[in-house]
Amino acid sequence: MRARRPLAAANWKMHLLRADAERYCAALRAGLPAAPAAEVVLFPSFPLLPPVAAALGGAPVAWGGQDLHAAEKGAHTGDVAGAQLADAGCTWVLCGHSERRRDHGEGDAAVAAKVAAAVRDGLQPLLCLGETREERHAGQTFAVLERQLREGLASRPERFAVAYEPVWAIGTGETATPELAAEAHAFLRGQLAALGFPAAAVRILYGGSVTPENAGELAAREEIDGFLVGGASLDPGRFLDIISRLGA
Ligand code: PGA
Repeated sequence: MRARRPLAAANWKMHLLRADAERYCAALRAGLPAAPAAEVVLFPSFPLLPPVAAALGGAPVAWGGQDLHAAEKGAHTGDVAGAQLADAGCTWVLCGHSERRRDHGEGDAAVAAKVAAAVRDGLQPLLCLGETREERHAGQTFAVLERQLREGLASRPERFAVAYEPVWAIGTGETATPELAAEAHAFLRGQLAALGFPAAAVRILYGGSVTPENAGELAAREEIDGFLVGGASLDPGRFLDIISRLGA
């Protein structure tokens, strides 16, 4: 029996069109048991949120935004407000994904503001963090994780999850070994406790080249409470396979 309900999250990134999303959701619905052991969340790009919501009504699947702006509303062309995500039925939002940090220069203060905005707007933040290859080689992994966690949670959210995604493992096919991932997760849980969060209840997901082939051995580690899946989540059959590995 797992200490926490596992969470399986699909990060579609900038992929799929409406018809693909509709087919995907139909396949996901058909393949999921009525009450899956894992909580399942999709993160489609913004224009796909309405068709996903329409296709998933009543299914045991939630959805969320891949990003949000920290402001409630205003003159921020190209951005999306948390209230707009909530209005589209989102219950989750990714904050601080490494591709946002890389492509949009989001630093820890910006990520912290997004986490606070998510909570304000009724969304559960999924705080993404992880070290780059250079940081790992320089022996800075734990310092980076400590800083990203502490600063990202500066607003002290009550309900949130964390995704440990080593940047060198994202989209590269180079998955962290279960030992290495478990070590980082144990460190993060210790830091959560040190920061005064109810660490035993917080889900810490692993992300970075998760596939049906490696999900089983990762999921077997009690430190790993689920997955944030990119590439392998684009195929509903492969995502269903990964979800099933979290059910044991
Ligand atoms: P990946 O992406 O599974 O394609 O490595 C994970 C992520 O970026 O969330």
